Amino acid sequence: MSEVETVLSCESARAMVSRKVFVEAFGCQMNFLDGELAVSRLSEHGWARTADPEDADLILFNTCSIRDQSENRVWSRLGALRPRKERDPGLLIGIMGCMAQRDAESILRRMPHVDLVCGTRRFHEMHTLVERAETEGQVIAIETDGFVDIVRDVRVRPQRHRAYVSVMRGCDHKCSYCIVPTTRGVQTDRPFEDVVDEVRRLAEDGVREVTFLGQNINTYGRYLPGRPTLGDAIRAVDQIDGIDRIRFLTSNPMDIRDELLEAMAETPSAAGYLHFPAQHGHSDVLRRMFRGYSRERYLEVCAKAREVCPGIELATDLIVGFPGETEAEFEATRSLMEEVRFKQIYVFKYSPRPGTAAAEQYVDDVSDQTKRERKNELLALQDSISVERNQALVGTQIRVLVDGPSPRNAARLSGRAEGQHMVILDGSPDLAGEFVNVHVERATAAALYGVLVPETGA
Ligand code: 5AD
Ligand code: SF4
Repeated sequence: MSEVETVLSCESARAMVSRKVFVEAFGCQMNFLDGELAVSRLSEHGWARTADPEDADLILFNTCSIRDQSENRVWSRLGALRPRKERDPGLLIGIMGCMAQRDAESILRRMPHVDLVCGTRRFHEMHTLVERAETEGQVIAIETDGFVDIVRDVRVRPQRHRAYVSVMRGCDHKCSYCIVPTTRGVQTDRPFEDVVDEVRRLAEDGVREVTFLGQNINTYGRYLPGRPTLGDAIRAVDQIDGIDRIRFLTSNPMDIRDELLEAMAETPSAAGYLHFPAQHGHSDVLRRMFRGYSRERYLEVCAKAREVCPGIELATDLIVGFPGETEAEFEATRSLMEEVRFKQIYVFKYSPRPGTAAAEQYVDDVSDQTKRERKNELLALQDSISVERNQALVGTQIRVLVDGPSPRNAARLSGRAEGQHMVILDGSPDLAGEFVNVHVERATAAALYGVLVPETGA
């Protein structure tokens, strides 16, 4: 320790050393991004990020309410922090996100050691909320509508070459099972210029791939002057130097327009990947889910996407065990998978959410055991589809954005192809953040394995 430091009083030493925040996000990509945005705000006010909760002065959980299980995970994490808070009353504990928005009072009642509860539209004020929690005691900050100021310090982000960009918030649909319209409110669009400006700043700081985020992103722009579309945003961002890949998540199939598909086809950096949740393969269940499309219509959109964007990869979310789901209805989901042959599926067991139409109108009558069996059945089917589809790529060359050392084997590199295939290859760690061409030699359900193809020509 230097002489100067040794003469500082404890108090002033504390003021000089930045305090540390640990953030953990549960649930969707939007939550991960919001956690980052909250940290970005705190970092502008003297906080540093830590990856170690034991080392943190502030622990923030960005919570998810989409299923019962997501909430239970947070409750148990919070319970486990109680003894630490007793030992160290200076530790601050904050809850953000959907659980916070849904039921702040019950969080504070069940977990009185929580200092701060901040809903889905106030996290940009995190630095002031933390100060208030320190001086005034427990703080609740919930807003049900209004614009969220999400201007961010682009340097604060978990990955050097990829970044999420929020383009809209909330959702105007009311799917019968879904809590999102309650916890995230109605759709609000971020101004077009702000989106483009943020991507430009990210590109200047080394980002090569952006993913636009929104709950129902293909209706982006409907509330903005001039009604710009997601297609317009893709085209505008494609012009930015340094941005070589553009993705977006997530789209309700009923809102996919030809204009978006055409924009994807025409824009070199738009990734050929479309995540648009079918949720179910049977039209009667889709009707009970208030999804607004039939199985036939969904299949038409798949065909259209493949016609306009040849080679596009399709991914979906599927719910099993929705109230009243018969064996025959479940079979329709299986057959939808066989017909579409998705690149990827995400399967969820239905979980009744308080206040949603499905929870109020229907009995949760499919047993957990049946839900589990149906989920496993779909996952096994997808595994066999993935193996076949991946093996068809053996012998071809694909373009990969290298992430860095593979999480499973640090001696190798891993990256992602345009269609979200995980690709494992040998190469120097310096390639992280670079696009490379890879010759695929081997494939499993989970990944492609290949070798670097040397760059030729200028
Ligand atoms: N139960 C189960 N899965 C749900 N999802 C949304 N709400 C529920 C629920 N109540 C799934 C949908 C959605 C994904 C994010 O979570 O498949 O697309
Ligand atoms: Fe929920 Fe439906 Fe909106 Fe998606 S489209 S967020 S499932 S209400």
